[in-house]
This record gives sequence, structure tokens and C-alpha cells, in this order.
Amino acid sequence: MLRTHVAFVTAAGAVAAMAGLAILPFTLRAQPATSQHPVPASKHGNVVVMLCDGKTSLEVEGLKPGQRMSHEQATSVTRKLMDTWQREHPGERWEMAQAQSPAPANPPSESSAQPPAAPAKAPAQAQQQGDTYASFHERDFKVWQAETQKFVEEGKRVFHSDKLLGSTIGVSCDMCHPDASNTHPETYPKYQVQLQRVALLRDMIDWCIENPVKGKTMTPNDERLRALEAYIIAQRKGVPLDYGKH
Ligand code: HEC
Repeated sequence: MLRTHVAFVTAAGAVAAMAGLAILPFTLRAQPATSQHPVPASKHGNVVVMLCDGKTSLEVEGLKPGQRMSHEQATSVTRKLMDTWQREHPGERWEMAQAQSPAPANPPSESSAQPPAAPAKAPAQAQQQGDTYASFHERDFKVWQAETQKFVEEGKRVFHSDKLLGSTIGVSCDMCHPDASNTHPETYPKYQVQLQRVALLRDMIDWCIENPVKGKTMTPNDERLRALEAYIIAQRKGVPLDYGKH
């Protein structure tokens, strides 16, 4: 009796699971997991590095899985990848420095990033009277700005460090995106073909950590991912938000 009951429950479970599966493929296709991007296999067992576009790839001769490149080798590999990409996208301009930002948070002089502008007056005397911020003083705003700037600087550190990014091959973002150029954070959210979904900036950062950096994707609350997002956005201060733009 018990056994029949169990069998019935199992069968019902299987039917439910199959019904679920019938729906699942669509859901999966619409929102693929960002953690599995097929990188073309090498015939010689070498490491293949793929660009953020999910298409352009390069086999690094002599580099076996688990081996790390020197900084010079990684720079040369990223250059070659970018050369290929440029040949395939002759019409696209790839900036080698932040150019469009009227107030770059990271001037080429490599000096410390520019802090966000201080409010002319503490909002206690300005338009936000009666608001949550009315009870704060100029000193509070200064502390917040300093904290924000620290976070942005942390993101800059991660962006420039293959180790902090968890790269297994010695590649960091700045090798192709000096000062976070060409990352266009102001265009997110937007549909990204390589992700096959509407992506937030962090989804794209995460994708690039996997390819071409060859690191492990980060959880949304990972401080490194949060700091990277802060840094990339800070580099575009003053550029109008234009989500969905390609
Ligand atoms: C080897 C060169 C290379 C490296 C290293 C690299 N990228 Fe990219 N990245 C590219 C290219 C090329 C594109 C443009 C892809 C395309 O055509 O869609 C791109 C696109 C992007 C975009 C989307 C830009 C847009 O217009 O929407 C973001 C964001 C981005 N990369 C962030 C990063 C981050 C963060 C890292 C480090 C974790 C990184 N990239 C590492 C080459 C690189």
C-alpha cells in the first residue's frame, strides 16, 4: 500500500518535472547562465583566450591550462586580440584613453581620481530642506565623498590587477580598456548578443572576467565586482545616461 503510494507520488513528481522541463529550455535560452561560455578548443591543448565579444579568440602557443603569462606576454596577447578585433570592425573607433568624458575621474597623469563635486552648500540650507539629508552637515558630505572616492580607487586597483581579478592567465581589464575606455557604462541596461539577454553593467563585467580575463565570475555582492562597477561608472562622470544604446 505504502509502496504504491510512493510509486504514485514519484510518477506524479516525474510528470511535474517533465512539465517543468518543457518550459525550462525557453527560460534557459532567454536567460542563459553567464558561467558557461564555450571557448573554442585548441587542437594542441593550448589555452584559447576569447574577447568580451564572445567571438574573437586567440590560441596562445605554448600556454597550457593552469599556466600564467608574464605581464609582457599578456599585454602582447591582448594587443593581438585587439588587432584582430579592429580588423573585423574597421568602422569602430577603439579609444586608448577616456576621451569623451568632460570631467574624467582618472586623468591620464595617473594622479589620484578626481573626487565628485562638493555641493555648493550643504542641502540643509538648500533645496532639500525637510528631506532626510537636511539634518546633515557639510562635514558629512565631505566624509561621504571621501568614502565614495576610496571605493572608486579600489575599483581602479581591481581593474588594473590580474591577481585581484582572479585571472588565471595574467590578463587585466586595463590592457584593452585604458582608464576604462570603451566600456560605455552609460549605455546599460542594454541587450547584449553574447549574453543573449538584457544585461546590466555588472553582467557585462562578469562576462569579461570570464572571457578574456579567464577568472571566475563573481557573486553580485563581491566587493571587487561592486568596486569595479563604481570605478567604470566614475570614469564617465558627466556623460549623459543613454540606456539601451548600441
Ligand atoms: C583582450 C582585450 C580585452 C580585455 C582584457 C577586456 N576587454 Fe572588455 N571588451 C573588449 C572588446 C574588444 C569589447 C567590444 C566587444 C564587442 O564588440 O561587443 C569589449 C567590451 C566590453 C564592455 C562592453 C562595452 C559596451 O560598449 O557595451 C565592457 C563593459 C567591458 N568590455 C568590460 C571589461 C572588463 C571589466 C574587463 C576586465 C574584467 C575587460 N572588459 C577586459 C576587449 C577586452
